[in-house]
Amino acid sequence: MIEEILSLVREHEEWRGKKCLNLIPSENVMSPAVRGLLSSELGHRYTARNRFYMGTKFIDDVEQYGEKIAKEVFRAETADLRPLSGHIADLVFLASFAKPNDAVMCVSPEDGGYPGIWENGLPKFLGLKTVSFPFSKHDMNIRVEEAKDAIRRIKPKIVVFGASLITFPHPVKELAEVARENGVCVGFDGSHVMGLIAGGYFQDPLREGVSALFGSTHKTLFGPQGGIILADKEYGEIMKAKIYPSFVDNAHWNRIAALTLALVEMRKFGKVYAEQVIRNAKTLAGALYDYGFPVTCQHLGFTQSHQVLLDYGGYKQGRVIAEKLQRANIIADCGVRIGTCEVTRRGMKEREMLKIAELIKRTVFDGEKPENVKKDVARLCVSFQKVEYCFEK
Ligand SMILES: Cc1ncc(COP(=O)(O)O)c(C=O)c1O
Repeated sequence: MIEEILSLVREHEEWRGKKCLNLIPSENVMSPAVRGLLSSELGHRYTARNRFYMGTKFIDDVEQYGEKIAKEVFRAETADLRPLSGHIADLVFLASFAKPNDAVMCVSPEDGGYPGIWENGLPKFLGLKTVSFPFSKHDMNIRVEEAKDAIRRIKPKIVVFGASLITFPHPVKELAEVARENGVCVGFDGSHVMGLIAGGYFQDPLREGVSALFGSTHKTLFGPQGGIILADKEYGEIMKAKIYPSFVDNAHWNRIAALTLALVEMRKFGKVYAEQVIRNAKTLAGALYDYGFPVTCQHLGFTQSHQVLLDYGGYKQGRVIAEKLQRANIIADCGVRIGTCEVTRRGMKEREMLKIAELIKRTVFDGEKPENVKKDVARLCVSFQKVEYCFEK
């Protein structure tokens, strides 16, 4: 009776954990120690702001310690680890600073923006209008001068930088001032690039002029699945006052303890890790481009993040490619976005990126039997079973 669920999970672990090249840019792996905390006793417990529950003396310290480390890693005035996901962190930000009929300006999903902050996502639920940043697909970035004009003209209540497809830093420095002059609240959804920011790479939104940086904790940041908000004092305190009772009750303290340990790992290893993630992405992009893949932004060096984008003109053709890859145990999405965060955490470097490019080429271009490629994928994976950039235990 128990065997069914246990064997499903075991088979999944065997497959995705051991035999696959995991190249989805929104995924990563936790260290064994972080994974351990996720199943700790804390996962059974409640706390409450009004001290309704007894037995919380250690959990209270976990919360304080977690916030302290997060503030240190991101050099933020306030931190909140309670949001249960990146999506909820987005919700907290939008709902705290906009009211029905206000406009939010962000990258549209057509240009790689997060659909959760678009027409059918949170803005619909909150009664907000959405306006897209003027965007250049050629440069995969916001058009600065046109965006300045659009901010002055439209005066959205909020602008949100960051996106789901993000290969280059967004022009926060260039636009934050214009936004503030026009009374606009500025945020950065760093779900994808949070681990690069923590490592000191990509960009530093809190120093470039945003009031809040928020998003997921499990993409380039290698924590458990969850959300985080980092903000200046003024904006951070407004959001803190609203998180409970509006958006989160039980904050899942096992997750927060695990996230805190992941942040401690980031503090120690984040710089080397983030640098390698980006170097790997550039190497993989270059090799794929040389094989003839439609890698975006060759004129800009392909990427400065963990993502390599293959432009197949939409999900339909992208799905064909992603399905072909999956048959060879190479896991990407239908975007087609290829991410280097997880393979980097497994210890892979430039040499392995060249190998991965070759495996992708054999699968997609040479039409080699997936069974053949799969064997070489497994051979590569077997040498990279450990998790790197963490403390030995
Ligand atoms: C830019 C962006 N924001 C928010 C989210 C939602 O994150 P979560 O899955 O943690 O809710 C995603 C999801 O991939 C994303 O790409």
